[in-house]
Amino acid sequence: MQIQVGIITVSDRASRGLYDDLGGPALKKAAEGYGWKVLAESLVPDEKRDIQRAIREQITKGCQLILSTGGTGVALRDVTPEAVREIAIRELPGFGEIMRMESMKITKNAILSRNLAVVVDKSLVVCLPGKPSGAVECLSFVVGAIPHCVEVLNEVPTSC
Ligand code: MTE
Repeated sequence: MQIQVGIITVSDRASRGLYDDLGGPALKKAAEGYGWKVLAESLVPDEKRDIQRAIREQITKGCQLILSTGGTGVALRDVTPEAVREIAIRELPGFGEIMRMESMKITKNAILSRNLAVVVDKSLVVCLPGKPSGAVECLSFVVGAIPHCVEVLNEVPTSC
């Protein structure tokens, strides 16, 4: 099955047009490189309600996998983990664990990252760092488990 993807950039400054959104396009390119179909792209400020609304809209459009970039750090405006946990039915801790463990080999600041993955309805939501290269790198660390996860959530018969 071809995975249908939504991408959400979470950034106060990019959503106000103060700088270009580089993270969303970088994730789109990576997703297409994995053979997935990007159905929706959103750009929202660091506000829980906007993040939650974008996730729900993308799920309504049929996105089985939602990739967000931004808002996972230690700054006081960073609220992506809180926003997704409020609407999630479960968290998948392995995603955050592996993303931080692998990223620590690249930058010691990775310990500050609160990257995570959760399930909202039947969709997998993976929250990646705001730095475009960091988002693409973190996705690459967990991509191996994504097709199986999406199949299980969509009740597609699988071999495992
Ligand atoms: N992870 C990877 N793989 N590569 C990176 O360059 N940048 C880090 C980290 N995770 C980075 C990374 C930095 S600089 C910070 S401050 C934290 O993620 C939090 O990022 P965020 O605030 O953009 O979510």
